[in-house]
Amino acid sequence: MAGVAAIIVAAGRGERLADGGGPKQYRDLGGRTVLARAIAPFLAHGQVEHVIAVIHAHDRSRYEAAVAPHPKLLEPATGGATRQQSVANGLAALVERAPERVLIHDAARPFVTPDLITTVLAAVGPGRGAVPGAAVADTLKRCDGDGLVHETVPRAGLFAVQTPQGFRFADILAAHEQAKRRGVGGLTDDAAVAEAAGLAVRIVPSHGDNMKITTAQDLELARQRVGAVPQPADYRTGSGYDVHRLAEGDHVMLCGLRIAHDRGLDGHSDADVGLHALTDAVLGTIGAGDIGGHFPPSDPRWRGAASDRFLAHACALVRAAGGAINHLDVTLVCEAPKIGPHRQAMRDRIAAIVGIDASRVSVKATTNEGLGFVGRGEGIAALATATAMFAAGRAQGPGDAA
Ligand code: CTP
Ligand code: MG
Repeated sequence: MAGVAAIIVAAGRGERLADGGGPKQYRDLGGRTVLARAIAPFLAHGQVEHVIAVIHAHDRSRYEAAVAPHPKLLEPATGGATRQQSVANGLAALVERAPERVLIHDAARPFVTPDLITTVLAAVGPGRGAVPGAAVADTLKRCDGDGLVHETVPRAGLFAVQTPQGFRFADILAAHEQAKRRGVGGLTDDAAVAEAAGLAVRIVPSHGDNMKITTAQDLELARQRVGAVPQPADYRTGSGYDVHRLAEGDHVMLCGLRIAHDRGLDGHSDADVGLHALTDAVLGTIGAGDIGGHFPPSDPRWRGAASDRFLAHACALVRAAGGAINHLDVTLVCEAPKIGPHRQAMRDRIAAIVGIDASRVSVKATTNEGLGFVGRGEGIAALATATAMFAAGRAQGPGDAA
């Protein structure tokens, strides 16, 4: 009998981290799974000869995707209904190799250090196990089911223990077999199994934080620890441009407002050049073509149509593609009418059509210094940009959005 084997128990279901993302040991932690991180220090440790994971019967493909083959890594064992049973299965799988010592570690602890492995191993002796622990720092209360405090428990001599827990292989195998024979179940660590068999257990000081991931907050904390920053949002910008000819009339529609004027804008719809430029800009954020493609001027349905529906439609396409309009900016280019007095009302109107706050809408105006068709009063032009935000990796193509 020689050597050291490590058992990584990974057959739990992570019910306390019930966010629908699957067992916690297969979650990503900065590019590697929790399980891969928990196993790696054992594979790398000079004293550890073999490593075996104990996995749930349904997790074979998850395991294979998570853990690369390694000369020290044995074929995984299948877990049981409780942690205690999973460990017993892991021990049974090692019987033929009969290592001298064994380390039993939770897959849910991804930050075990090489030093801690060495420290635990050094403290293992015949008839004596070793477990890392930290003196309890908080004041302890015993409560009833409603959270009503019954008593304060003196914390002197109390330790919160962790894994890896080390034992002589023959000792802990016998202890688990004895617990099974006697019907002692539900023990949450191997030290408890050892104690029940009359073995001594020594606490050694833990290194690092060696935290166990139990809740969603723990997973978040672990991710912060490895510097796994959340994927930045995916911003996309579209631009739009439109011109309409000025003709006979008594008002113009600009950015959704009817403004009295001695000319009118000519066009198939209401010829709102501002909303048309904005619509194209919004469509541009999802590569969904242009306003003419969605509302062909040849289609009689759009004759005289109010242009707010064009903009609202484009925004609905962005939402369907998983995006949200973050910001809109439109510049009207005209000699008249004066835009300044209407600027705020235009911002409010656009914000209402799009369903965003007016602070996310900018309306600007400029004359063309008397130059060109705008300068000669033959038409009004508008330029726009739209910025849309998508959750990273979520943006879908325009085909999916339509
Ligand atoms: N474990 C196991 N087999 C089980 C139960 C637990 O191998 N039947 C493992 C877990 O995968 C984990 C370790 O034991 O690595 C510690 O258990 P715990 O933190 O309780 O994990 P889960 O049982 O998965 O979580 P929960 O109790 O919230 O369901
Ligand atoms: Mg559990």
